[in-house]
Amino acid sequence: MPSQLLRCKSIDRLIAESEEPHRRLKKTLGPWSLTALGIGAIIGAGIFVLTGTAAAGEYSIVPHWWKAQALDLILNFLRHGTISSTIMHGRPPAGPAIAISFALVAIVCAFAGLCYAELASMIPIAGSAYTYSYATLGEIFAWIIGWDLILEYAVSNVAVAVGFGGYFKAELQEFGINLPDKWSNPYWSAPGTPHGYFNIPGFLVVMILTVLLVRGVRESAETNNVMVLIKLGAILTFIVAGAYFIRPANWHPFAPEGFAGILSGGAIIFFTYIGFDSVSTAAEEARNPQRDIPFGIIASLIVCTVLYIGVAIVLLGMQKYTVFRTGDAAAAPVAYALQAVRADPRLQFVIIVGGLMGMLSSLLVFQYGQTRIWFAMSRDGLLPKIFSAVHPKFKTPHWSTWIAGFAVGIPAGLVSISDAADLSNIGTLFAFLLVSLGVLLLRRHQPERPRGFRVPFVPLFPWLAIVFCLVLMMGLPIETWLRFVIWLGIGLVIYRFYSRRHSEFAQRPPAPSLTTETRS
Ligand code: ALA
Repeated sequence: MPSQLLRCKSIDRLIAESEEPHRRLKKTLGPWSLTALGIGAIIGAGIFVLTGTAAAGEYSIVPHWWKAQALDLILNFLRHGTISSTIMHGRPPAGPAIAISFALVAIVCAFAGLCYAELASMIPIAGSAYTYSYATLGEIFAWIIGWDLILEYAVSNVAVAVGFGGYFKAELQEFGINLPDKWSNPYWSAPGTPHGYFNIPGFLVVMILTVLLVRGVRESAETNNVMVLIKLGAILTFIVAGAYFIRPANWHPFAPEGFAGILSGGAIIFFTYIGFDSVSTAAEEARNPQRDIPFGIIASLIVCTVLYIGVAIVLLGMQKYTVFRTGDAAAAPVAYALQAVRADPRLQFVIIVGGLMGMLSSLLVFQYGQTRIWFAMSRDGLLPKIFSAVHPKFKTPHWSTWIAGFAVGIPAGLVSISDAADLSNIGTLFAFLLVSLGVLLLRRHQPERPRGFRVPFVPLFPWLAIVFCLVLMMGLPIETWLRFVIWLGIGLVIYRFYSRRHSEFAQRPPAPSLTTETRS
């Protein structure tokens, strides 16, 4: 009997189940709908908020080693045998060279995206990295990824909700309404930003969406297309109109801290690309998943990269990067830059409201995605049954939806966008790393299984994805690493004392030859 930890679900059985007439999803999505799906998930609050802070860097008056970049700490230790020489004042600024960070991070995402596409084409069923890993790597890996995906979905939504709050406040100011800092800033705010008690706009937006999700509202492919047009419209308007206010002197120095700043900035703005992997989760609804999933992933990455670089160049040409370090300029840099150059208020309205609507759709998609992953984990016995309970009238997983609502809404009231984004980044990078490792392992252990799409240059490309993800993880501060390790530790304790005992494999061990496969 193989160890339960490495027990895999049968890919054939998963595919056969998804083909049952009552479970079959309509195969309606073509390459451009998939690309729109990717863009819809990728563009949220990140580009509107983190571009400024990543360019400006972070400077704490009191130096702390846990604020230092992991890579910086290690390199200094190797060089000098001590960590005391590390720059421990915070993060080095990328300056306008954040545009280079955007390009480099897109390449990292493309390598990881190809690995996602290979797994999605082998297992073209709804789900996510959680399902892939249950079918390929074994239960313990599925649990780790499922637990880790909470960082990608729920914690990233904490950051998006905080970003929404910042822009909402900026927009109200345009109408002469000033929300008090105490009730619109988080308790644990970023350095240089006034403390508050609770960020009410960030909390409320999540709870309103929760009510809608419980009642069965979700984005259809058509609504997504409209939202994508609004987001693209808002960003393009900013690029075109903002270009008029550029002062080239603001681009100097271009890279104030050289590669250290570009790496640190890249580790922050990685957040802006989170979501492209959602294209692979639509594999079951794609008309031709083998061809169109890789297309959708790469095309959505290309579109977003071009737009992101455009925003970075324009924003940092409008204002010197240093202004985005603190206060309103850090919370809502695009709104701040437009106000500072006294752009036409109608223009500001169009850009900010378009951005806010984009953030809303991103929040909705991720809250929805989170509950569906919990639903699958609960059906497999790894989470309590309450997570897969379905509302009698609305037919939605109402308990998971409410739990996700509070789990995202309350932290959105309490933490800063940078803390939430960092934790989300490290978790997502780790999931990408495991998925890339999965491709390598499966090429070795199941070489004969048909793959609609094959990552080119294996093992080089998956290894590049793994190494680049690790480098970006190293660009994050030690405190983020500590939080991540604690998060994984809590996950393993829950697995040991709950999930392992309640897993369907523990309760009803199926015959390996018929229903399960095991990694040999
Ligand atoms: N990529 C998403 C954003 O930037 C999470 O908001």
